[in-house]
Amino acid sequence: MEIGARLHHLQLLSSDVDKCAAFYETVYGMPVRAEGSIRICTARDRRLIIAPGPSNRLGFAAYGFSGDVVEESYRRMVEARIAVASASSLLFRSNAFMVTDPDGNKIVFGAAETNAASDDPQVHEQLPARLQHFAVRSSDPSKLIPFYRDVLGFIISDRVYDDAGQVRACFLRTDSEHHALAIFHAADARHDHLSFETADWWKLRDWADRISQFGVPIVWGIGRHGPGNDAFFMVRDPDGNLAEISTELEVCESTRNEGTWRHEERTLNLWGGAIMRS
Ligand SMILES: [Fe+2]
Repeated sequence: MEIGARLHHLQLLSSDVDKCAAFYETVYGMPVRAEGSIRICTARDRRLIIAPGPSNRLGFAAYGFSGDVVEESYRRMVEARIAVASASSLLFRSNAFMVTDPDGNKIVFGAAETNAASDDPQVHEQLPARLQHFAVRSSDPSKLIPFYRDVLGFIISDRVYDDAGQVRACFLRTDSEHHALAIFHAADARHDHLSFETADWWKLRDWADRISQFGVPIVWGIGRHGPGNDAFFMVRDPDGNLAEISTELEVCESTRNEGTWRHEERTLNLWGGAIMRS
């Protein structure tokens, strides 16, 4: 049974928080506010915190529950398996908690502030996009996958194997959407990408048209992922983070069997070439 949380916000680290925040404000219609040295970019369904630090690194990922009760029962389940730490995020209520995965990625769980997001209504109505998943690179996915599955209760939707039987990618879900987290095998362990899910095929086109107006080129896509079956494209923010717009992401029955895919370009993009992390 899925845990029922959804990716609520990410904290990205940046050596130039103003430049990075301005990108998301301008290109993705997410108004910025400052809290000391931190920048917070929020629209109705997408929220990013940009904090000082080395660029192209994840500060933390935050999954939100829709209420305190379910968040508390989940916390008790996790606490029985691993040490958890109290956490505070500017976009969660005070009772959030944090765990650290075997690669050092920090994952926060909490109950969302209902009034935390401001809006750019014009952008929202014309171009909806909800922060939906993020992805990390790991030199050893076989250590991360049991952590997310057996400790945190994420469910594996699909795994990608090379011909030697090693896992090269894994897609895990927290609710019915195919993945809320993706793990890619790569030489270096770090943040890979964030993804905004839009309403339909035509909105994907409209996002590409909008982003092109700011002179930001597509660096991958338009394509269709094998696992998840979503149509997508990706651009890079000023720090080099890949930012994805996707649509038509698979909705899974809770009884869905785990799928397996071959490690090849076609798996990551049924329509053409792929960014291969390893
Ligand atoms: Fe993605």
